Amino acid sequence: MKEKILVTGGTGYIGSHTVVELQTAGYEVIVIDNLSNSTVDSLNGVASITGITPAFEKIDCCDKLALDGVFKKHQDIKAVIHFAASKAVGESVEKPLLYYRNNLVSLLNVLECMTENKVPNFVFSSSATVYGQPEILPVTEDAPVQPATSPYGNTKQIAEEVIRDCTVADANLKSVILRYFNPVGAHPSAAIGELPNGIPNNLIPFVTQTAIGLRECLSVFGDDYNTPDGSAIRDYIYVVDLAKAHVIAVERLLACANKTNPEIFNLGTGKGLSVLEILEVFEKATGVKVNRKIVARRTGDIEKVWADPSLANTELGWTAKTPTSEMLSSAWEWEKKLRDSR
Ligand code: WQD
Repeated sequence: MKEKILVTGGTGYIGSHTVVELQTAGYEVIVIDNLSNSTVDSLNGVASITGITPAFEKIDCCDKLALDGVFKKHQDIKAVIHFAASKAVGESVEKPLLYYRNNLVSLLNVLECMTENKVPNFVFSSSATVYGQPEILPVTEDAPVQPATSPYGNTKQIAEEVIRDCTVADANLKSVILRYFNPVGAHPSAAIGELPNGIPNNLIPFVTQTAIGLRECLSVFGDDYNTPDGSAIRDYIYVVDLAKAHVIAVERLLACANKTNPEIFNLGTGKGLSVLEILEVFEKATGVKVNRKIVARRTGDIEKVWADPSLANTELGWTAKTPTSEMLSSAWEWEKKLRDSR
């Protein structure tokens, strides 16, 4: 067996897809999650794909004692991928303290446990939200971090600063920060996928729930942006391509002696698509119409953002290559599977 990797938030959407790729690459994976926004069923999905059920402990990363217990129990953890965090932008505006406490205390506990247990390699799940509305597009990693437009986004900015300061101060800590654009889709097996709690905040689950008849109509938040068709533009990246980048990031850390600074990478396709273009691709790929109406812009939304992924392409040898039509078809297959099983 290759090295042991601890994945916090590993029963979640991106976490579970990353566990699949880590296991496929031969790593032994330990998953911890407090199951506040996911279910342990996702690990059955993982096992149905890889044939391996990862070790799982129901742990809240804000509980330092319990977290340290995992490090003590699994003596030879070689790297940590830290997904565990609250991630709903709108909810963070209503409940800022919950977000600052959960997202920052969990990060501090993980970093402290790593130092105390001499685990040197850290991969952090960050977000393109740290860029706000970039002045120049495509956005590169050295673009200025703009004042956060939500407590969620602010927790990602603060987390990046904490990781930078700790990596500079501690010669034994090496870190990679991955800034995700918009993760979408589900594993081609349809054994794992996105499981939004209640009414989806994000576009794609709302699209598939509308397409399957769970939702009456998709609200398109604004068609008066300064974009070709007026709707907002994002860089939608396939969740499996995103997951694969995490394995490469772990391998990069395991292979290198030391790093004085975190390495930061944009994980995007480099291509921006508008909401209306996404709907067009979805309908063409699935043959299913999506009932939609144009409504007012959503507070806090930015107009357009897409990645310059060239640093990840060259440094990590990683490219997001799955076509948008395939991403959206996989989301549709997952939605149908979910409804069949309910
Ligand atoms: C995408 C586009 C909406 C829903 C956020 C976070 C980011 C990450 C992903 C956590 C926007 C439009 C959406 C709907 C719509 N979160 N939309 N109708 O806001 O780009 O990114 O979620 O990791 O960090 O910032 O993603 O999917 O919510 O929206 O028109 O019902 O779809 O206005 O233009 P977003 P999203």
